Amino acid sequence: MLQVLAKEEKLFYKEVKFLNDLDHPNIVRLKGISFQPLAMMLEYIYFDFKHFGCDGLHVHSLSDFLLQIDEFNCEGLCELVNHAAKEIINGLAHLHSKGIAHRDLKPANILISNQHYCTLSDNNEMVRQFELRPVACKLTDFGESRSLLVQTQTCVASKTNNVDRGTVVYEAPELFVREILLSGASISDFMLADIWALGMIVFSMINPSVKYPYRSEIRSAGSISSQDELKIFLSSLLRQKKLPLPDEKYIAQRATVWRGLEEIYRLCDNFDRHSRLSLREASNIMSRENKRVSTDLDVLHLKVSQTTAVQQFDQRLAAQLKDNVSEETPAKQLECALNNDGTNACAFLSVKIADAILSEVVAGSEFFTELPEAIEDTIWHLPQTINVHRDLHRLYDAMEAYVIIREHKIIMSSYDFSEELPFDDTVYSFEGRQKLHSKLCELGCNDFVATFTCEPLALTLGCRDGKPYMIDTHSVTFAPGKGEGENLSL
Ligand SMILES: Nc1ncnc2c1ncn2[C@@H]1O[C@H](COP(=O)(O)OP(=O)(O)O)[C@@H](O)[C@H]1O
Ligand SMILES: [Mg+2]
Repeated sequence: MLQVLAKEEKLFYKEVKFLNDLDHPNIVRLKGISFQPLAMMLEYIYFDFKHFGCDGLHVHSLSDFLLQIDEFNCEGLCELVNHAAKEIINGLAHLHSKGIAHRDLKPANILISNQHYCTLSDNNEMVRQFELRPVACKLTDFGESRSLLVQTQTCVASKTNNVDRGTVVYEAPELFVREILLSGASISDFMLADIWALGMIVFSMINPSVKYPYRSEIRSAGSISSQDELKIFLSSLLRQKKLPLPDEKYIAQRATVWRGLEEIYRLCDNFDRHSRLSLREASNIMSRENKRVSTDLDVLHLKVSQTTAVQQFDQRLAAQLKDNVSEETPAKQLECALNNDGTNACAFLSVKIADAILSEVVAGSEFFTELPEAIEDTIWHLPQTINVHRDLHRLYDAMEAYVIIREHKIIMSSYDFSEELPFDDTVYSFEGRQKLHSKLCELGCNDFVATFTCEPLALTLGCRDGKPYMIDTHSVTFAPGKGEGENLSL
């Protein structure tokens, strides 16, 4: 008997065939199928937050996991995100090695689990399993997948299904932007589109507060109410080669623990599709991150910053104006505030902090314990000494500051500024961080102290016993370098 299968049925059997042929720890496992009704039985996957202080909280997909990560402000969970990315890269590499392109990669189609340790009763074994694999990720939803075995000529045309399903923000430009649309696509074209989607997934992982790529652009545009309008709007951004706006909230993590992930995102989301990162290279970036000297990120809030004196003055003045009971005249207070004002003093502070580290802060295990106090002491006291020798309204570079400080015997030792970095991008730009990282690797990662000028800011950075640190004395916003007077390790 000749059986004519409905379109959905055909797709169902195709997905079953894909899953049945795939046996990998990063791909969801097919346990069986039912014919009435037609359904797939998959292994049941969930991530349980009970060991993270939230009893009863489960999530199934990476999209829900990222929402939770943001709820916890990522505290203690940054390395989990790095590990998740490795698992996703491995799963996709396996898929591609089997000649299959996924075609609908997005966080909702990545299942996430910790059942391999959260169900264990033996505590030691649980810790061991957590350390080996803190999170498991499995690719799912192969309904849109294509392989060498399946005819592909109609694939581009059939992409409207995907767009209607709301995945367009993960979609490679060449699959929907009219001017660059591929007229026909082979499996390797779809694999390159999977790499773009991987980049967007990684973007979502390092911007968990953004929810999905281009969200703030879409919201600012206002009146987008259909998938077609969304496609037109995104096409206009992609034509201008615009990548999604990142969120400031996790700028410190992207500069430190998620540095490798940011690199992967940018290299995957290359508009020239033939220059996109290969999965092997992505994997290499992640294993390089594993070998970093230290994976800890300590953000230590200093008690004072360059503007503390001015802020205190403002507060006192405001209180007095409110109460209208002033013992000192505002003019007298202004004088004393300016005397202690550290505004624009970062080059001086960075040189003096470097000197304090080299000459005063003890070596050995107490170093990081003593460091904050030494820095706070310098930030608070140096302006009173240095302000008479500088123009408060001018920015100095580190060398000028050093000459003035040395001339007035504020530091006693002479230092050799032998190494100049041949760039001045800010350390808060991706490119600046890349260059700084390569230079630090060249210099070696043992003990050193350096002043680093990234126009217009100067910072002190260094490394002690293999642990890098960076000292930021500014105070404007929470973001590093835009200042909160933070000491954070690179
Ligand atoms: N095996 C599974 N275990 C637990 N949850 C699952 C599983 N498969 C899917 N889910 C949940 O259902 C959602 C949709 O599943 P998916 O396979 O992507 O179907 P759809 O074709 O409807 O997109 C996932 O984002 C996830 O939250
Ligand atoms: Mg899905």
